[in-house]
Amino acid sequence: MKFSHAIVEKNVVILALLTLITVSIGGLVQIVPLFSIETTIERVGGVRPYTPLEQMGRNIYIREGCYVCHSQQIRTFRDEVERYGPYSLAAESMYDHPFQWGSKRIGPDLARVGGKYSNDWHVAHLKDPRAVVPESIMPTYAFLASRPLSVPNIQDHLKTLRTVGVPYTDDMIANAAADLKAQADPDADTSGLLKRYPKAVVGKFNTESPELTEMDALVAYLQMLGTLVEFSKLQPEDLHQ
Ligand code: HEC
Repeated sequence: MKFSHAIVEKNVVILALLTLITVSIGGLVQIVPLFSIETTIERVGGVRPYTPLEQMGRNIYIREGCYVCHSQQIRTFRDEVERYGPYSLAAESMYDHPFQWGSKRIGPDLARVGGKYSNDWHVAHLKDPRAVVPESIMPTYAFLASRPLSVPNIQDHLKTLRTVGVPYTDDMIANAAADLKAQADPDADTSGLLKRYPKAVVGKFNTESPELTEMDALVAYLQMLGTLVEFSKLQPEDLHQ
């Protein structure tokens, strides 16, 4: 025994190999179960996949690089919670592909911006941030109000998300194109949409254009951020639904 240990200690290649094997076993034991156990992300009542319109808005958010200046993750510090609201739960971004936690805060965190302002405020702000916040350094995104929303493949889009684990049902996929239009049409029958996606904010967000524009999608997305979980009613047992 003593002899073999001496070999290991004197031969750097064997030592490195055995160290690697030992560390790998430790790593595998810790990491592998996280991919399969249910409790890696505690489920929270109210969290649902994005509506088709919100999902399109999210794509515009990513395309325009809003994450370069805005994070979407409220940390567990008192100053953050007092400023932005309850700290972010892992479940709130479990259907995000890609996630938008970010680390840059040239502008404020947006994880709970939904419902903080009116739809009109968002449209005015995106068109010209300085019209509503005079000291703002945010760029203008006025062009979004005149660009028609292009949605050639919304069903495929949801199906792709389903393959990576977002629980879109067949019903959601079959109705994707209709739901997308209905959410931005105050005259539409939205009962199906609201059943499939509770709390979706319905309205013609960009009143300037009768057509569905990129602005409509982006504002629909901003208005739902952080609104799905009812923190005032959240009980510890809700975390295991
Ligand atoms: C160059 C950095 C920058 C970029 C890029 C940027 N913003 Fe901002 N944003 C800011 C700053 C600074 C503020 C704070 C001043 C203000 O309200 O305009 C802000 C504020 C906001 C607010 C109000 C937040 C609150 O709680 O008051 C929203 C909503 C917002 N931005 C959305 C967006 C969206 C959507 C995009 C992408 C289309 C975007 N921002 C891109 C810098 C940026």
